[in-house]
Amino acid sequence: MGLSYRMRLVLVCISIFVMVGVGLLFKRLLRPDSFGVYGPYRADAISEAVAVPIRHGTNDSCFKCHPFEAKIHKAGLHKTISCEFCHGTYADHVEKNKKTGTLPVKTGNQITTLCLRCHNTEIKARSEEVIKTVALPDHLRDQQVKLTHTCNQCHHVHAPLKYINRAKQITGLMEK
Ligand code: HEC
Ligand code: HEC
Ligand code: HEC
Ligand code: HEC
Repeated sequence: MGLSYRMRLVLVCISIFVMVGVGLLFKRLLRPDSFGVYGPYRADAISEAVAVPIRHGTNDSCFKCHPFEAKIHKAGLHKTISCEFCHGTYADHVEKNKKTGTLPVKTGNQITTLCLRCHNTEIKARSEEVIKTVALPDHLRDQQVKLTHTCNQCHHVHAPLKYINRAKQITGLMEK
């Protein structure tokens, strides 16, 4: 077009000013009120996070009402696993120290699905030293059982080697 070099430069400068101005305006409009009170973040985020009701408990929180399961769980190789991973959230079940709801209890194939979430050889992300895995149906074939067997028919869900170690003791395959 016929604009001179100087004219184009002026236009470029004006558009830069307009863009920066619009940007600053939006920054002002969109910036949350509490931004920068303590640092370069929204101070309200802290009180909002504090206000979120706590829905999870620790394993300790289950122990006092479930001493039977607690004893087995603490003695077995699942002692480091969270009860809630397998059962769901504390708050779905207990409020103010009273039972208020029901946690779904898995049965049959649901249990196999649950176990394989951690113990499936297909999961390559963790090493075998961290967590032992099995491949299906090989694991069941090795035990010479029907492929319809579910994991809890041989492994106690709360202490997975409980029965197996006991069987080994009885058959003399294990010391003590
Ligand atoms: C690896 C998963 C897993 C973990 C960890 C686990 N459980 Fe379980 N639990 C199960 C499964 C599956 C069942 C149901 C099948 C069975 O009892 O064999 C069950 C059954 C139960 C039951 C009996 C429910 C009923 O009405 O039959 C209670 C109570 C229970 N668990 C509490 C706990 C507590 C408390 C902890 C933690 C100390 C815990 N569980 C840890 C998987 C788990
Ligand atoms: C204030 C006591 C209390 C606490 C704490 C508690 N439970 Fe329970 N729970 C009960 C009672 C009572 C029952 C029903 C009777 C039974 O199965 O022993 C029950 C039942 C269960 C059941 C069977 C399904 C159901 O809801 O009826 C599971 C699974 C369970 N609890 C898991 C847990 C886990 C996991 C925790 C910790 C995150 C926990 N409980 C904490 C009192 C409690
Ligand atoms: C949240 C993950 C998780 C779930 C779910 C889980 N486990 Fe485990 N399991 C572990 C960890 C961690 C160990 C301890 C490390 C190890 O020995 O592999 C373990 C140990 C074991 C062992 C002993 C392995 C050994 O060292 O010889 C067996 C058997 C086992 N689990 C079976 C089961 C069964 C059956 C289920 C389903 C009821 C199940 N696991 C559910 C994490 C899990
Ligand atoms: C018919 C019985 C039976 C069934 C069903 C069964 N297991 Fe096993 N499992 C065993 C025996 C026996 C061992 C060997 C323990 C040993 O040698 O110390 C074992 C070992 C394991 C191990 C440790 C493997 C290792 O490398 O040391 C894991 C993990 C395991 N089982 C998970 C499962 C899962 C998950 C299921 C369900 C998909 C399942 N098992 C079903 C009997 C069974």
